[in-house]
Amino acid sequence: MTDDQNTGHEPETSAILAGRSEGETSLAPVLYPTSAFEFATIDEGRGMAMAVGAERYYSRYGNPTINAFEAAIAELEGAEAARAFASGMGAISAVVLGLCSSGDHVVAQRQIYAGTQLFLQTACPRFGIDVTFVDGTEPGAFEAAIRPGKTMLVCAETPANPKLDLVDLHELGAITGATTVVDSTFATPLGQNPLAHGVDLVLHSATKGIAGHNDATIGVVAGSQDLMSWLWGFAVLHGANASPYDAFNAHRGLRTLGVRLAHQAATAQRLAEYLEGHEGVELVRYPGLDSHPQRELAVRQMRSSGGLLTFDLRGDIDTGCRFTEAVRLARQAPSLGGPETLITHPASTTHVGLTPEEMDSTGIGPGTMRVSCGLEHPDDVIADVEQALAATSD
Ligand SMILES: Cc1ncc(COP(=O)(O)O)c(C=O)c1O
Repeated sequence: MTDDQNTGHEPETSAILAGRSEGETSLAPVLYPTSAFEFATIDEGRGMAMAVGAERYYSRYGNPTINAFEAAIAELEGAEAARAFASGMGAISAVVLGLCSSGDHVVAQRQIYAGTQLFLQTACPRFGIDVTFVDGTEPGAFEAAIRPGKTMLVCAETPANPKLDLVDLHELGAITGATTVVDSTFATPLGQNPLAHGVDLVLHSATKGIAGHNDATIGVVAGSQDLMSWLWGFAVLHGANASPYDAFNAHRGLRTLGVRLAHQAATAQRLAEYLEGHEGVELVRYPGLDSHPQRELAVRQMRSSGGLLTFDLRGDIDTGCRFTEAVRLARQAPSLGGPETLITHPASTTHVGLTPEEMDSTGIGPGTMRVSCGLEHPDDVIADVEQALAATSD
């Protein structure tokens, strides 16, 4: 928090004000593309080399553009500190490798981003870190899998890939004896705040809704000063630091997140309701629908139902392929949270390598479609989906 006048505002307002440094008269975030800073004296150089979080020493340690973005995220998440990384995966891998050592144990949610799952399944065992996957929607599942004295980290994602399952943040926040971390990418800092429920760390692929324009690849983690100082020490050596250019774009994007998220969520709500009434659609998953199996939890812990939804087409894998090829306005791309509506057919693209059993256990069917609603007029998005459904059933 850099400006006392920021207190007491709604989060959408804070998103515009947060991260401005005192005395800075530039309305826009200031870009410092430099990789290093010069010192005036040996003493100054020594002081910076020893300082945790040095801002003007070497950009792998810190950089005013990156630090301004971090301060903004920390403020929005109600955290004492934040650290930006080169990507969401950079943030996730730094948290796991920074907090866990050989012989430690991690409890993670089964419904999780495929990259995170692969990292936990393949990289962690190579470093002697044992991982247990649990159903994050099942009450008490995380707690039950904890091995006292061994479990260092409990990893959750909510809303979760791919079916927008939710994890009870209050229950997660009550866990003691292990550090809890929530990937809150789908919600964004304006959609929910896991730290307010007692969770230790929140992280985002800021590549998505936070940056919001498909022009930055960046991740961010926020939490207590103690945890973040520890993580900073590891992150400086891990080297997956954010680029100032990406931090600049992410900070600029953050300022319009309020209006973007509201628009995307309104479109997603309308599209979800439209799809629910369509005979070609078997199931729609959106936290804003009364039919979402955890609707009551969504109301309790989310300020916005978000811009993402999934639905299952009736039919087989060809139906999914035909639908994907029939959409005209929506683009096919493996991302979310940007201005363009994006549609993916996981069974034939992102998850094509999975066996039918693995596909089943992640909740992906042959006709599952994931939609990230963009900033187009909602009527145009719904008309596009409507014509694609008609073309698919021909
Ligand atoms: C929920 C979630 N977390 C993390 C990531 C990884 O982020 P990045 O691509 O910025 O590394 C993704 C990517 O799609 C994601 O959807």
